[in-house]
Amino acid sequence: MANIDMKAMFSLTYGMYIVSTEYNGKLNGQVANTCMQITSEPLCVAVCINKANLTTELVSSRGAFSVSIMEREVPMTFIGQFGFKSGRDIDKFAGVKYRMSEGGTPLIEDWCAAAFDAKVVRTVEMPSHILFVGEVRESVFFREAPLLTYSDYHTIKKGKSPKTAPTFGFNTLK
Ligand SMILES: Cc1cc2nc3c(=O)[nH]c(=O)nc-3n(C[C@H](O)[C@H](O)[C@H](O)COP(=O)(O)O)c2cc1C
Repeated sequence: MANIDMKAMFSLTYGMYIVSTEYNGKLNGQVANTCMQITSEPLCVAVCINKANLTTELVSSRGAFSVSIMEREVPMTFIGQFGFKSGRDIDKFAGVKYRMSEGGTPLIEDWCAAAFDAKVVRTVEMPSHILFVGEVRESVFFREAPLLTYSDYHTIKKGKSPKTAPTFGFNTLK
């Protein structure tokens, strides 16, 4: 791909989120940087998550997801629990403070400044990932706090991205 300079792609900016849901009694969530608001009327957001992830399977089954917005002070252990481990092996919500939205998705209060619940209204299937478009049904602002950006995660926290992240290639720049 001679005409593609990955540095240009890594100039995109993102926040850091936990995309979660609940299905058949199983709560699960995963770290994702690929989340954004796409329209205001109706109020819709999009998240892009890997087909191999348990979260993706559960979001597809439930037809709803939540997004919790991480604070800059979030410890790496918390990111590691949601971003480098699978809910197939551990209970990611054990010991985590959250409240359930009316739509039945968990809104995480630990290390998250705000969260919202969305009902899936459209999906776009890519070879590796599914882009879920959700209409927001509920949102909660927990507290005023500096928020974690994807760039801070790499530069301040010296974090990496696992293979399942759409921006995996970012690691090659370091
Ligand atoms: C900084 C960071 C960003 C990530 N961004 C995404 C993302 O946007 N989409 C995605 O599918 N996975 C992303 N991941 C990877 C998932 O969080 C990871 O594969 C997780 O273990 C999946 O868990 P699950 O199987 O319990 O759903 C990211 C991980 C990190 C650490």
